Amino acid sequence: MPARKKTAAAEETAEQKLEAPAEKKKRSAAKKPAEVGTDAAPKAPARKRTPAKKKTTPAPAASAAQTIASVSAEPAAPAAPELPQPRRSVAFIGSECYPFVKTGGLGDVMYALPRALAKLNCDVKVLLPRYRCIAQQWQEKMIYRGSFMMDLCADGRSFYVGIMEYVWDGVVYDFIDNEDFFSYGKPYTNLVDDIPRFCYFGKAALAALNYLDWIPDVIHCHDWQAALVPVYLRTLFAATPLSNAKTVLTIHNLRFQGIYNIPTIQYWSNLPDYVFNKDALTQNWVDANMLKGGLTYCDRITTVSGTYAEEIQTPFFGEDLDAHLRYHAGKLRGIVNGIDIQLWDSRTDKLLAAPYGAEEAVAQKRANKLALQAQLGLEENADKMVLGLISRLTDQKGLDLVNAILPALVDGNTQIVVLGTGDARYEDSFRGFENAYKGTVCSYIAYDEALAHRIYAGADALLVPSLFEPCGLTQLIATRYGTVPVVRETGGLKDTVQPFNQYTNEGNGFTFDRYDAGLLLDAINRAKTLYFTERSRWDAMVRRDMEKDVSWENSARHYRSLYLELKP
Ligand code: ADP
Ligand code: GLC
Repeated sequence: MPARKKTAAAEETAEQKLEAPAEKKKRSAAKKPAEVGTDAAPKAPARKRTPAKKKTTPAPAASAAQTIASVSAEPAAPAAPELPQPRRSVAFIGSECYPFVKTGGLGDVMYALPRALAKLNCDVKVLLPRYRCIAQQWQEKMIYRGSFMMDLCADGRSFYVGIMEYVWDGVVYDFIDNEDFFSYGKPYTNLVDDIPRFCYFGKAALAALNYLDWIPDVIHCHDWQAALVPVYLRTLFAATPLSNAKTVLTIHNLRFQGIYNIPTIQYWSNLPDYVFNKDALTQNWVDANMLKGGLTYCDRITTVSGTYAEEIQTPFFGEDLDAHLRYHAGKLRGIVNGIDIQLWDSRTDKLLAAPYGAEEAVAQKRANKLALQAQLGLEENADKMVLGLISRLTDQKGLDLVNAILPALVDGNTQIVVLGTGDARYEDSFRGFENAYKGTVCSYIAYDEALAHRIYAGADALLVPSLFEPCGLTQLIATRYGTVPVVRETGGLKDTVQPFNQYTNEGNGFTFDRYDAGLLLDAINRAKTLYFTERSRWDAMVRRDMEKDVSWENSARHYRSLYLELKP
């Protein structure tokens, strides 16, 4: 993820970077554009229109339900599930989405929440950039839906917008295609490039909805990369049919805000002067803050856990926006994330050496542990306790605490597996520990989905000692795989992990409160004590974890209610 820093030199490059785009304007789309309109978004498309409210573009959830209903006269057919009414249409706009492109939990949410909403009678379209780094297997599935030229910059510079579509399991994915902005990065680079590309993306996403004439009830934007959407909607798009839509802006991580100097953001967005005021985009008189502008103009703000919704209104967690968030607290809600329980299912997970359900978890986790140890070059012994850590290696994740106590964890009975990439100082320190404790510590410095699955299954406990954590998904996935989470009581970690109570045998993990290495060590030692001395109580916790509901179902209902609150 990009940092918030900027330099004067960087500003110049930002403008040079996309010089003379006219020549390289069009990405060679799968098919050539049928028509290339002129001018910006709000222009009427030449293609046939199908308004969302009357008859939407693919409405697979409904069609599935109808199909079931139509065969229900057959004796053996199951009854059609009751879909909640009324139907709602929602456009998700964000910068990543599993399995196309993912750097962290945002990608998981952009995948799982639309699918959960589709099951709740929502018609969901997900708009994302068509990055070149999206694997060929997905690029091949995209179908060209149209293209046009869109005015973007203050000097009238316009850019190509292509729409490539893929419909999958009840959700429509529309990829915004433009080679100038999306042919580099994985998917982020640095603010110099990312500010222009996300000024472009927010406007292009709205322009694409207008072009497709798909006017949703709600436009649901995610993080700073989509935060200009509510601002564009209430200004440059105010006279278009799209302005009937309501907007929700979800904060997945307040640390990232999209801050740059005012002239640069004004140039790339061509937003009117009046939005650059201290109550909207302007911050500290000289900077423009894209997230802050979005928070001002959206109809509802959500964040990904109830505790984080409280925390971000305080100076420590507020990242300089606490006062702004307190001002807008009336429209702020916390809705905790879930995980996709089909994607994360230890019973059917093909990546595991020995898939398992709650009943056979104790035996099968030992088999997965042996396979993991063999794969990673650790001593193969199922009696060792394996502690896992799967994380972006950044300050947010409490890794300085882990570094401080790691030598104290190496006691002959414990192994440590780290999977992550990120800041060089953490990558180096974990590599150093692997060298110092060969066979006991493995630091796998990479992004590796398959290995992540195997660690969730083969580890006994998973560490998440974050400094702050808006929600956190690794503790939820661990829970589902019967791997006991050891977490710091902050944000979503506090809301999703109930500390083990040795008197009542309740709880599903181990927790500590203050950000202190000694307290992390203490929590791990409590876990170890239970594991090594009272295995039956540990095993019972493993089963409790696996039976806990960590799905999206409940939270998706909260989002649906929010949409209904906005458009009764
Ligand atoms: P964040 O979004 O702050 O990175 P989350 O806990 O919400 O944290 O989500 C992290 C997601 O990324 C999880 O799905 C986790 O399994 C995955 N992940 C993180 N690092 C890696 C890695 N190195 N390899 C594979 N998956 C990873
Ligand atoms: C962010 C947060 C993480 C959260 C994820 C998905 O990346 O750091 O806590 O789980 O978004 O909402």
